[in-house]
Amino acid sequence: MKKLVVLTGAGISAESGIPTFRDAGGLWEGHRVEDVASPEGWHRNPELVLDFYNQRRKKAREVQPNRGHLVLAQLEDHFNVVIVTQNVDDLHERAGSSTIIHLHGSLFESRSTADEKLIYPISGWELNVGDVCEKGSQLRPNIVWFGELVPMIEVAARHVSEADIFLVVGTSLHVYPAAGLIHETGYDVPKFLVDPNAADWPGISNLTVIRDKASTGMELVKAKLLELI
Ligand code: OAD
Repeated sequence: MKKLVVLTGAGISAESGIPTFRDAGGLWEGHRVEDVASPEGWHRNPELVLDFYNQRRKKAREVQPNRGHLVLAQLEDHFNVVIVTQNVDDLHERAGSSTIIHLHGSLFESRSTADEKLIYPISGWELNVGDVCEKGSQLRPNIVWFGELVPMIEVAARHVSEADIFLVVGTSLHVYPAAGLIHETGYDVPKFLVDPNAADWPGISNLTVIRDKASTGMELVKAKLLELI
């Protein structure tokens, strides 16, 4: 089977009811990104950060995967699919995809502030001040914040460099290093971009841009991908 590597962003979860980041007028659910998604924000106000992610987690538990996620899962019948997602929700998992790299971490895991290797599942929706790891240190969301290293980027880059086909769905490509992954693909590799507001992507070879929502756009892409088997 050909290897299909897919980079997804907030846009693929938009039709499930999770708002994207940059479509929200610069504010993220009413907050400045640097207040809720940076180490500085965490040190300034951990209650605010924990509450912000508690609300995101609660919302993510309430919503369902949409057609975009489901088509990606179905493509496993025809391709060796690896999903590299910037999303911290679990909608790819719940849609049935089997190989998912969460570049920016997961809403459903906490991590020790004393030892980043201590990671725990979050079963409910709340993480609070006073919730501690086995060493007694405060737990934080296991999410990659602005200014932090992206531990999974090398694994993701290796997969992208091995891709026979590369597909990008619902990301503004504003955030690095994720946005740079496209440059790991070969010149001849067919590349597809699904985003209703897709910008032109100058200098990228063999690119098909589908300016459509993930739900309908993924059906179009699926038909094009099946021609490449
Ligand atoms: P953005 O909010 O930057 O971009 C969302 C993209 O989805 C935009 O290009 C929209 O045009 C597109 N979009 C909107 N509705 C869509 C739909 N129904 N179907 C398909 N596409 C749609 O989100 P990301 O690119 O994912 O980082 O943002 C990257 C990172 O920045 C996030 O992972 C997060 C954020 O701050 C961290 O939390 C570290």
